[in-house]
Formats: sequence, structure tokens, C-alpha cells
Amino acid sequence: MRMLSGIQPSGKLHLGNYLGAMKQHIEQQNEHEGFYFIANYHSLTTVQDPDTLRKWTRDVALDYLALGLDPEKVALFRQSDISEVLELTWLLATVTGKGLLERATSYKDKINKGLSPSMGLFCYPILMAADILIYRSDLVPVGKDQVQHVEMTQDMAGYFNSTFGREVFKRPEPMLNEALIVPGIDGQKMSKSYGNAIDLFDTPKRTRKRIMSIKTDSTPVEAPKSPETCNVFSLYKLMATGDEVKALEERYLAGGMGYGEAKELLAQVVERVLGPARERREKLEADHDYVEDVLLAGAAKARRVASQVMTEARDACGIIIAGDMPK
Ligand code: TRP
Repeated sequence: MRMLSGIQPSGKLHLGNYLGAMKQHIEQQNEHEGFYFIANYHSLTTVQDPDTLRKWTRDVALDYLALGLDPEKVALFRQSDISEVLELTWLLATVTGKGLLERATSYKDKINKGLSPSMGLFCYPILMAADILIYRSDLVPVGKDQVQHVEMTQDMAGYFNSTFGREVFKRPEPMLNEALIVPGIDGQKMSKSYGNAIDLFDTPKRTRKRIMSIKTDSTPVEAPKSPETCNVFSLYKLMATGDEVKALEERYLAGGMGYGEAKELLAQVVERVLGPARERREKLEADHDYVEDVLLAGAAKARRVASQVMTEARDACGIIIAGDMPK
């Protein structure tokens, strides 16, 4: 099965990005054929400073590799290295009704948050559909907020195939990440825009400080505490081993432990995961050529599939370009 997902380079990645998406991508690299890309064209709908976009694009590659994505096993590439994806966006746009896009909740949310309703933002789901369909992806691991986009992709594949009477595109399935909600330090969903994130690659000192500032209730030290409703425990559960989680749960229920101590334990497991990744990232950062080579090799692999699918898609709708074999 081919598994594909994209991450937008739109700022520093945080623990929510890792636990909610990247960790799963990395764990699945032995199970499925992985295609992971840096969605820089998507980011252009919100990031409009060239140096920043370039930096963040590279940062996503560094973060993925530092966290353990193995470029020997999966293709890691920049969306923009496969320009055919923009060509497919157009073909799909011609078979997609405006009404479908008007129903996109993520578009409405973004407008409500004050983003300007550019055509890029409006057509974002078509570009995302092209990303998915051009690689004949079977599975698309995404967070809850992106499931609608994958469903729209299924619709667009169907519109194209039925308009032109050929099964050019395969129907992809969303793979929901256990509906995982990663709480931020204030207990809301961790998100860059809420200012409640714990960044992945901050200094150990600042990371610890963020953890110490996680919001907890005012249950006194001696009293038993509820693991289910505690933000510290929720994060611990996502990062510690099964035995560690059980042990902390017992201490919560027994009472006699303050939240400070629980935070201390959380800080330790966070550092256990991020410490070695931070070191790997520093080394990778110094090796510009290696990272670029990884991205180019990933793009070469992705392009082999994309160019084949595009040839079929053009042929299905009667678009001729120099180089394609005429029928
Ligand atoms: N829209 C996705 C997000 O913001 C990123 C993305 C772009 C994507 N293209 C994709 C995800 C294709 C999965 C498949 O999270």
C-alpha cells in the first residue's frame, strides 16, 4: 500500500505535529511504501516571505530526518519539485464544482480567522487532491481537520474518471490518527496559532520551562488526582512507556503527589525522545548537501510515478504536450 501525506512548512513544528502526524509516518515506514512531502505550495497561501518560506521548507526536512524518518525507506520530497502537481490541479479544477469547495470547513475557518480569501486558499483542496491522486496513493494519514479534504479528493477522482470514462485515478482512503488530540499547555488542542505549543526543537531549558507551565487544576498535593482530566498526564501518556504510564496513574489515584512532580516526570520523557533528535538535527543542519540530496532522491522517486500518471491523465482528456506519445 502506498501511504502519502504532506506537512506544510508554516513555522516551527511542535509536539502536536510530532505526536499527531510525524510519529505515525515514521512508525509506518516499515509497513507501507511512504511518500512524504513538504507542502510548500500550500504554505504560500499564508507564508508570503521568500526567505522565511525557504527556511521553513528546509526545517521540515531537518525535523523529519532528525526524528527518524529513513530516506532509504520512504521518499521525502518538496511538493514544488514535482511541478506536474500544478498541472493536475488545473485538470481537476475543470471537473470540480465550485459548490464542493464552498463546503470546505477549513476554508471557512481560515476566513473567520482573518485570512484573506485568495483563490489559492479557496482552491487549496484541489491542490491537495492533486497531491494525493498524482501518486496513486492508497492511504492518507491525516488529522481530523483534514479528513474532509481527503473525502473531497475521492469526489474529484470520481468526477474525473466519470467525465472522461476512464479509471485514471485511484480512490484514496483517509487514515485517521486515532482521533488523537494533543493538548497544549493550556489544555486546548496544541496549535501554533493558539500560542500553547511545546516546540520540538527548542533548547532543553526552554522546553522544560514550557512543560512546567502546563495548566493544572488546584487539587491539593495530598488529594487523589484524576489522570483523565489532567493535561500533564495526557501528554505523558502519549510519550512514556506503558509501564511508566501505569505507574504514574497509580500515583495520581493514590494522592500525595503534586503536579510539579508529574511535570518533572513528563519533562524527563520528553527529553528522552527529543534529546537524541536534537543532536541529530544539529549534525544534519551542518550537512546541507546531504539534506538536499535526500530531497532530490525523493523527488526522483516521486516524479517517476507522477509523470506516468500525468501522461495517462492528459491522454484521458485530450491534452497534448510535446514529449507525450500521441495515441
Ligand atoms: N493540508 C495539509 C495540512 O495542512 C497538508 C497537505 C497538503 C496534505 N497536501 C496534502 C496532507 C496531501 C495529506 C495529503 O495538514
